Amino acid sequence: MSRIPADPVLYEIYVRSFADSNADGIGDLLGIASKLDYLAELGVDGIWLTPIFESPQFDFGYDVSDYLAVFAEYGTLKDFDFLVAQAHERGIAVILDMILGHTSKAHPWYRDHPDMYIWADQVPNNWVSAFGGSAWSRDEAAGRYYYHRYYPEQPNLNWANPQVRRAMHDVIRFWADRGVDGFRLDALDGIAVDPLLRDEPAADLSLLAGRDQDSWADYWKLEHIHTTNQPQVIDELRALVKAFPDSSFVVEADLPTEALRAYTDVTDSSFAFDFLRAPLDGKVLADVIAGAGTHGNLAWALSNHDQPRLVSRWGRDLAGVAAVLLLTLPGWSFIYQGDEIGMVDGKGGPVAYDRSGRDAVRHPMQWDAAGGFSAGVPWLPYTDPARCNAAAQRGVPGSMLELYKDLISLRRELSGPVEVLTSRSDSLTYRRGAHVIDINLGDESRPAADPGAPVILATGAVTEDGRLPARSATVSLRS
Ligand code: BGC
Repeated sequence: MSRIPADPVLYEIYVRSFADSNADGIGDLLGIASKLDYLAELGVDGIWLTPIFESPQFDFGYDVSDYLAVFAEYGTLKDFDFLVAQAHERGIAVILDMILGHTSKAHPWYRDHPDMYIWADQVPNNWVSAFGGSAWSRDEAAGRYYYHRYYPEQPNLNWANPQVRRAMHDVIRFWADRGVDGFRLDALDGIAVDPLLRDEPAADLSLLAGRDQDSWADYWKLEHIHTTNQPQVIDELRALVKAFPDSSFVVEADLPTEALRAYTDVTDSSFAFDFLRAPLDGKVLADVIAGAGTHGNLAWALSNHDQPRLVSRWGRDLAGVAAVLLLTLPGWSFIYQGDEIGMVDGKGGPVAYDRSGRDAVRHPMQWDAAGGFSAGVPWLPYTDPARCNAAAQRGVPGSMLELYKDLISLRRELSGPVEVLTSRSDSLTYRRGAHVIDINLGDESRPAADPGAPVILATGAVTEDGRLPARSATVSLRS
C-alpha cells in the first residue's frame, strides 16, 4: 500500500540548501530530519529529495558516481534510515530523485562497462546538449565520442543494452527495500535515443514562447524527435512499474501535456511542464488545467530547483494567487522549498557553481531572521532573511506560510474534476465539486464570480459590494 494518498501535496527539498546539521555550510539529511515537524505542521504528504547519492557534483548530484551510497557531505546510510523512519512516524512519505538516463563520468560503469553508454567514432549528428553545445564529447583515452544530453560530465546510459535495465532495477530495489515510498524519474523522456542516430529537425520557433529565455534556449531550437519520447521509454516505465508495484513514480518528461497521457496511463503522475512555464494569462492557464481531466493524473509545480521562484516570477500578490491555483488542482501538487514563505531568487554567490545559471533559485532556506540554515558559512549566501523567514510568519494571519497551511488543509475537502467556468486573459474561475475558485489576475478589482457565496479562503478580502480585489483569489462554497 502506498503511503502517498490521492491528490497529495509534495514538498521539494533541495538537499544542499534546506538545513545544515553540522555547520559545514551544506544542507544534509540530519538537517532535514530536524525540520520534519515544520513540514508536518505545514501539512505535506511527502518530501521529494533532490539526488542524495555519491557524486562529483558537476550537476549537484544529477551526476551520480555511486547510486548505493549517500554523498558524504549529506550524511550516511544510517542518517538516511533515520530520516525515513522519522518521516514515516509523522505520516510523511519519502520520494527520491532517480536519475536513469545518465551517470557521472566518474561512475565505475563508465570505465569498466563502456558498452553501457552510447558511443560513435565521429560526431554523428546535430544533437545538442540541454545546457548548450554539441551533445557529443570526445573521450581521449577511448578515441571515440560519447553522447550526453546534459553536461559532458554526464554520459548517457545505453538502454538498448539490457544490462542497464538490470543495473537500474537493482538500484531501485536497494532504496525501495530501505523504505523509500516513491521515485521522481529524472528526465525520463530522454533515456532512449534513435538507434540510427539521425539528425533532429529545426523546431518551429513560434512554439518557443517562454522557452527562448530559459537556460536551455539553444536546446529548444531543435525538435527532439530522436532523443526524447522514444517508444522504449514507455516500455521501460511499464517494466519498472511492474517490477516495483509498491513504489510510486512521478515522471519528469518535458513534453507538451498531450504527450503525457502515455506516461500517466502507466504510472502515478507526470509533471505538467506547460503549467510550469505558463504565462500569467487566465486563458492559457484554463487550457492547461483543463488537461487535469483529459491527460490523466498530472503533477503540478510552478517553480523548482531549475526554474525561477514564484515571487520573482509573478510578484508577491500573485504568488499567493499562484499558491491557490497550485493547491486546488487534482493530482500531485509540488511546493518548492521556500516558496511557502515567499522567498525570492537570489544573486548567486561569489563564484558561479552551476554553469547554467541556476544558483539564483537554490539559495539557503530562511528559517529565521539570521538565516538559520547553518551555524557555519552557507555555501550560497542568504538572500534576505530579515525580511522573509519561516519563524516570523508562523502563526501570523495573512502571511504566505499560513496561506499555504490553510490551502493544504482545505485541499482535503476538495473533490471532483476541474470545470473551468470562465476565463479571460486577466481572470480565471473554475469549480471542483462544491467549491469555486475565483482568480483575478488583473490590476483592477472586478465583481466576484458568485458574490453571495460563502468565502472560505481569500488572499484579498472581497469588498462589501461583492468585488474581488486586484491580484487576488478566493475559494468559496457554491451558493
Ligand atoms: C533536473 C536538473 C538536472 C537535469 C539532468 C533535470 O531534469 O531537474 O536539475 O540538471 O535533469 O539530470
